[in-house]
Amino acid sequence: MRTTIHEVARAAGVSIATVSRALNGTGRIAKATRSRVLRAAQDLGYQPNDLARSLLAKSTQTIAVIVPDITNPFFPELIKGIEQVACARGHLVLLSDSADDQIRLWQDLAALRRKQVDGIIFAGARLSPDRIAAVTAGLPVVTVDRETQLATASVVQSDHRAGARLATEHLISLGHHRIAHLAGPDGLTVTAARLAGYRQALAAAGIPEEDDLVVPGGFLEEDGFRAARELLARGTGCTAVFAANDLSAIGALAAVEEAGLRVPADISVIGFDDIHLAGYIRPRLSTVRQDVVRLGARAAEVLIDHLLAEGPSRLVQETIAVDLVVRESTGPAPRMVRIPAPPTAVTPEGGAARA
Ligand code: RIB
Repeated sequence: MRTTIHEVARAAGVSIATVSRALNGTGRIAKATRSRVLRAAQDLGYQPNDLARSLLAKSTQTIAVIVPDITNPFFPELIKGIEQVACARGHLVLLSDSADDQIRLWQDLAALRRKQVDGIIFAGARLSPDRIAAVTAGLPVVTVDRETQLATASVVQSDHRAGARLATEHLISLGHHRIAHLAGPDGLTVTAARLAGYRQALAAAGIPEEDDLVVPGGFLEEDGFRAARELLARGTGCTAVFAANDLSAIGALAAVEEAGLRVPADISVIGFDDIHLAGYIRPRLSTVRQDVVRLGARAAEVLIDHLLAEGPSRLVQETIAVDLVVRESTGPAPRMVRIPAPPTAVTPEGGAARA
């Protein structure tokens, strides 16, 4: 015979509403009361009937998180922040890795709607705002890290432009004037903001911008490896590289080493994110630190506050500060520029590249 919520309330000496608040993590409840209710529920083996509760409350206490690439260390940290808040406030998290693929994203969104999630946190949606609006129609949405221009979505993100400016100013402060930028993926607000910050720092220092010092890149190691090889092959004589994220900066380090150049003696390299690995590779990577767990936590707080609001709640546009982390991969500009060796035909993994 299933234990009922009435029996838990009686055992804990509280009302049914108090039991519900204690189990759902919603509303105000004294810590001691919550512990007493949870202990009674545990002793009685109480299992809330989620389906019944969802129908009654018109809520599944479940939020969905959609990320573009779960293999990038940035996103697990983001999910950790989201999960910490969701769990503390009685919500389950459903995760979808859309692999930055529009069709997959569309399918996941439709599936999440069928699962009756209460709201969605988007990290990096490439769908157009009208398509997102169509499939999420009426579902509360918070975008985190990257904007989607969805008029009905709150946004929580780092100050990408200021971070890029910090990275570039750091290189300028070391005497570098020929500074390259390995850009992020096309079409993302993050990519545009970091390019803008790089340009802003050059302009403020009176350093002319040169097209051949900006290379289209991406957020993967192989993107940085390929972009850095292309940059070096251009013979621009650059002495510093600002890569749009840490993984592409790590790929760039491999390309610089392949060309027989030293970091930072010949070329300084700085990234963006401050993933855990940045402090352990050699040379340790200078970068711009995003408070990723806090980004995720704030996105979850904004969404759950919206879910619990009595009436329509105002949209949130929140920008979280970033800071510069200086390590060994950046150093003073070299007195003379060493011309790199022509690229040898090897793959990043070190195998012989096939013709
Ligand atoms: O490294 C992944 C990148 O994608 C990060 O810079 C983050 O801001 C996200 O946009």
